[in-house]
Amino acid sequence: MTQQILEKTEIKPAERLLKLPKYIFAQLAELKQEAIDRGVDVIDMSIGNPDGATPEPVVKVALEAIQNPQNHGYPNFRGKIELRKAISDWMKRRYNVEIDYKDEVQTLIGEKEGLANVALAYTNPGDINIIPDPHYPVLCRGTLIAGGEPYFVKLKEENRFLIDLSDIPTDIAKKAKMFFINYPNNPTGAVAPKSFLQDVVNFCKEYNILLVSDLAYGEVCFSNYRPYSIFSVDGAKDIAMEFHSFTKTFNMAGWRCGFAIGKKEFISNLYAMKSNIDYGMSTIVQDACIEALTMDDKYVKDIMDKYDARREIVAKGFNDLGFYAPRSDATMYFWIKIPPRFNSSMDFCKYLLDKTGVLITPGSAFGRLSDDRFRVSIVQPILKIEEMFRRFKEAGIKYE
Ligand SMILES: Cc1ncc(COP(=O)(O)O)c(C=O)c1O
Repeated sequence: MTQQILEKTEIKPAERLLKLPKYIFAQLAELKQEAIDRGVDVIDMSIGNPDGATPEPVVKVALEAIQNPQNHGYPNFRGKIELRKAISDWMKRRYNVEIDYKDEVQTLIGEKEGLANVALAYTNPGDINIIPDPHYPVLCRGTLIAGGEPYFVKLKEENRFLIDLSDIPTDIAKKAKMFFINYPNNPTGAVAPKSFLQDVVNFCKEYNILLVSDLAYGEVCFSNYRPYSIFSVDGAKDIAMEFHSFTKTFNMAGWRCGFAIGKKEFISNLYAMKSNIDYGMSTIVQDACIEALTMDDKYVKDIMDKYDARREIVAKGFNDLGFYAPRSDATMYFWIKIPPRFNSSMDFCKYLLDKTGVLITPGSAFGRLSDDRFRVSIVQPILKIEEMFRRFKEAGIKYE
């Protein structure tokens, strides 16, 4: 006992925290702050933080809700019934899928939280989860925190950044517990045809794998393209859950709100995990979310029209500098190869920040296999985007 006390000379964080790879978005925030402290006028094209305000009707409802003392207590864990009903109606209206609001919906304190908690709810130490590379970080971090082992499948440009199921060895498929997908995709901008979603569902059914589909960008789409809900695919209800976010759809990043849908058993287990950790989405935010889902669609259209206009300018600007930067039908991202003379995406990111004051996200933030790319988020007004390309030209930035 005395020996043990003597050996315990410092308070160390848990292995699970020490083992996590550095969260590159936190590192980027530090780089940005250092540049600002040096007096640089930083143009931040890195994180996918929508630059517009939350639509006015949503703010109005929240202001009323905050004044109601009934909303000051603990919220309903699952989400109030009116919100779950609004979610189910929204899924019917926007994606033509039927969701039972009583048992098949769980509200989230942001989709990120839900994606981490579903991995905790289903992953035992040593379990294998299939994860695309590149991926939005939490698609992998939840698995790591739970002690699981990610099996990475590369999203290849020649396959339009769709997962090639034949890249997954049969022994991995047999052992895998969960399979995470995200279309429209962050960071590649790729979209998935229904036939691909059907193939993934069939694959998960064959090997009895829980499919987690991340539809954070379900509404960030252009030129008449509409993404599919996984539940528009035959048999998906048996093995899939779908996760949604209010962040990009309604400019609500800071409100922290999202939802998960799926069959009763899956939602109950997510709920059980969450109810041990948090108290659910604030009732004030829940009221705001009901308004977001039921207000006129024109507010969402206005947000997407703004991105659409920027897409043209960003694609042309990069293509003029020799980069291959095609526009995608969805998301607010461009996924571009770093100039070949750079050894890593972080080197290129630091070089750009140093020479031009422009901050982009290095591909390495999205996985070990993605260090040859960078991501640009179109979250700045057009004047800033034009300023970015002026600075690139002055600094001689080119694809070479
Ligand atoms: C693919 C993807 N999933 C989930 C999220 C998280 O969304 P939220 O803000 O609701 O936590 C993001 C946010 O950028 C994302 O890009």
